[in-house]
Amino acid sequence: MDLRGCIFDLDGVIVDTAKYHFQAWRRLARELGFEFTMEDNEALKGVSRMASLDILLSRGGIVPDAKEKEELAARKNKWYVELISGMKPDEILPGSLRLLKALRREGILTAIGSASKNAGSILNSTGLHDLFDVIIDGNRISRAKPDPEVFLKGAEEMRLPPQTCVVFEDAQAGIEAAIAGGFKCVGVGLPEVLGRADIVIPDLRKISIKQMRNL
Ligand code: BG6
Ligand code: MG
Repeated sequence: MDLRGCIFDLDGVIVDTAKYHFQAWRRLARELGFEFTMEDNEALKGVSRMASLDILLSRGGIVPDAKEKEELAARKNKWYVELISGMKPDEILPGSLRLLKALRREGILTAIGSASKNAGSILNSTGLHDLFDVIIDGNRISRAKPDPEVFLKGAEEMRLPPQTCVVFEDAQAGIEAAIAGGFKCVGVGLPEVLGRADIVIPDLRKISIKQMRNL
């Protein structure tokens, strides 16, 4: 492919925050009286806060009204924000910095395409902000992954057609979003979970720009 841009999911691809989302959701489930496992959590990855809450509540068979839902989402976010407030630059996942710098050297544009409304504060606290040309986060989209909106906006702001961009994702919903938007996609994680991606790698150390051009 004619590679001009890369769009990265943030949580679980660039930084090790997927574990904190899981811990906060599991704590909420426990307070509500049911267990929420790591397998259950796969369906929440990449999905917006409110859509994640809906999935979690349906697992627990709980049907709250809109006001209670707002309160539950705020409770989970408060714990999550506490967990990430202690984040250090060493929670940047292996290979991220090397790849982002290599892309810069090659003149390939970089974007964040994240569902998270906390993306900006994570990018600032880890010092990663300046390595991205474009940042699309949960505050700038109205449709959650698997809708391709977040990636299409990223490509549009880079002024690139989707066929010239590669999306990096650790979530099933994100891979579906990339495919729906007409992007090539690299799954970061396990092949059994991310099988629909064009290629699956365990982490960003395991991909080169040459391999990406061959997609
Ligand atoms: C995604 C995460 O990046 O952001 C999801 O994979 C999370 O787990 C979503 O629910 C929304 O994040 P936030 O920070 O806005 O609650
Ligand atoms: Mg993710």
